[in-house]
Amino acid sequence: MKEKLTAYQYLLKDKLTGDKNRELIALLKDIKLAARQVSKELNNASLDNTIGDFMGNKNSHGEDVKKLDVIANNLFIKSLENGGNCAGIVSEEREKVLIFNNEVSKNSKYLVCIDPLDGSSNLDVNVPVGTIFSILKRPSIIDKTYTKDFLQIGSRQVAAGYIIYGSSTIYVITVGKGVDAFTLDPIVQEFYLSHENIKIPKKGHMYSVNQGNFYEFPLSVQEYIRWCEQKDEKTKRPYSLRYVGSMVADIHRSLLKGGLFIYSASKKAPNGKLRLMYECNPMAFIIEQAGGLAIDGKKRILDISPSSIHQKSPIFIGSSDMVKQISKFLKSKLFN
Ligand code: AHG
Ligand code: MN
Ligand code: MN
Repeated sequence: MKEKLTAYQYLLKDKLTGDKNRELIALLKDIKLAARQVSKELNNASLDNTIGDFMGNKNSHGEDVKKLDVIANNLFIKSLENGGNCAGIVSEEREKVLIFNNEVSKNSKYLVCIDPLDGSSNLDVNVPVGTIFSILKRPSIIDKTYTKDFLQIGSRQVAAGYIIYGSSTIYVITVGKGVDAFTLDPIVQEFYLSHENIKIPKKGHMYSVNQGNFYEFPLSVQEYIRWCEQKDEKTKRPYSLRYVGSMVADIHRSLLKGGLFIYSASKKAPNGKLRLMYECNPMAFIIEQAGGLAIDGKKRILDISPSSIHQKSPIFIGSSDMVKQISKFLKSKLFN
């Protein structure tokens, strides 16, 4: 019987050995604590009347804020601030960066960018949602922490992960040495290794896009979608369209089964909708570590130099053969 290792034990043993990684492991534990608390909040939401919008509030992106967006944001801020293992955060739910001024956090080596609750439009209908996070190293631990310290290209991420709150709560992490997943045992309230060294299938037969935006997309994206819908035995087309509306759920399915997730630029959203620092970058790091690819249509997501903490990017991410296939359409002179 394989030894049941917790996330902490597995990372300590295999991926983050040595004293220099103790703070990073502790930071991942702070995230794990908040994930357990959010999972409990979600499971009880319909009973505790925390479903629904937060008094009609809009966030800095002009999107409706759900009560659980605020609850999740507060739980992650509390755990990260009290844990003392990161100096500050960028959160989707806060317009500006939040720097932690307590004595311990001020000397921490790390910064966190986080989407506390991803897919919140699905909360009221019990469809899986998630948390997405990216961990960066502070450029200097002597100076104070500034907004510009967060504006690092995605290839400089130290770690990234997501938690998917679905039929089970699963914590997926990369520290740059492959991708592993840990499933929450609800009785013991501990995450145990359940998927070791995940590799995304090179080929996939599912594409994931909001088809309702079809006529808003560039011609190249429209042509790719039409290509997916054509019948062709050899390439097992037509592909299946799967779209949950939670990036975490669509990426998790693609990671395990193969597939291509698309959030393209469109007439109404010229830079797409998903944010670089805490949605595109962490997911790109994870998928690349699992052997997949992630581009913005022109270049690798992880090579984008950010200029603002909430900037958006188009994203085409998933199985390497599928990303290469859509790249042919995106770069073709026929459609551009
Ligand atoms: P969030 O709930 O954090 O704002 O993220 C929602 C995002 C992402 O999860 C999902 O892929 C996308 O919004 C769906 O957008 P559309 O409803 O426009 O397709
Ligand atoms: Mn999101
Ligand atoms: Mn969110």
